[in-house]
Amino acid sequence: MLSSTPTNSPQHGSIACVGLGMTLGSHLSPLARSHIEQADVVFAALSDGIVELWLQSMHPDVRSLQPYYGKGDKSRMVTYREWVGVMMAEVRAGKKVCAVFYGHPGIFAWSPHEVIRVAREEGFQAHMEPGISAEDCLYADLGIDPGRYGCQHYEASQLLFFEIPVNPRAYLVLWQVGLVGDTSFKRFSTGPEYRQVLVDVLSQDYPLDHEAIIYRCATLPIQQPHIRRVTLRELPTTDITSEETLVLPPADRPRHNDAIRERLAALDKLYQEKQATA
Ligand SMILES: C[S@@+](CC[C@H](N)C(=O)[O-])C[C@H]1O[C@@H](n2cnc3c(N)ncnc32)[C@H](O)[C@@H]1O
Repeated sequence: MLSSTPTNSPQHGSIACVGLGMTLGSHLSPLARSHIEQADVVFAALSDGIVELWLQSMHPDVRSLQPYYGKGDKSRMVTYREWVGVMMAEVRAGKKVCAVFYGHPGIFAWSPHEVIRVAREEGFQAHMEPGISAEDCLYADLGIDPGRYGCQHYEASQLLFFEIPVNPRAYLVLWQVGLVGDTSFKRFSTGPEYRQVLVDVLSQDYPLDHEAIIYRCATLPIQQPHIRRVTLRELPTTDITSEETLVLPPADRPRHNDAIRERLAALDKLYQEKQATA
């Protein structure tokens, strides 16, 4: 997909990947709006048709990226490469392109990072403008501060495809649980058997009666966040949609590191002695 344009030469086209946030109407930043309004062409990968209609009220040439998805026989990676291709075609044609993604364009999203990489490699201006992601919303709606015990984020399938050491003393946030274990990259959902594999992997670090929070933030202003609390054991028999994120609270408290605390105490003592003689 890379063109023969020499790298690092100034080019007329440009691309800005911006986030629309999660909730229609309330999350769009003034800077993201200005990128949309000033673009020659706007591409859209959004959560639903209503949000796309709202975007159309901001620009006369909004092109949906949704039709590039196949119906079960096409890998999502093919779709995402096509997205990069159509966006770059307009950039190479000298257009000011704005690509709009729901949430934050750089969070669990391959194409925005890739199109920016390709555009910069070809000498075009490329910029990512952050948006309010599902992650931001879940901290607010579930009352979680990631700084309290630490917080790990994974695409759920990664825990199955790779040997990943999970830290049960921190929060664990799992994305794309609705299609956990899909090795084909063609399916939009998997079933109870696949969630059972996830539970088997998680049960190495968590008891089966541990709380699992299934979370969906509001995408329309008339909605409320949707929060379901089940046990890990119940996860296989609990339907999870493609718009939900799974949160496991810590199963254990952090343990004191006595050796390091003693070292720090000795340093503090030294510091106080130096202060006293200064
Ligand atoms: C491809 S990622 C896109 C994330 C998006 N870029 C963001 O900033 O939130 C899709 C995953 O985001 C999460 N997600 C999408 N919509 C959501 C919602 N309304 N509430 C909670 N999580 C959501 C789910 O884990 C879903 O599988």
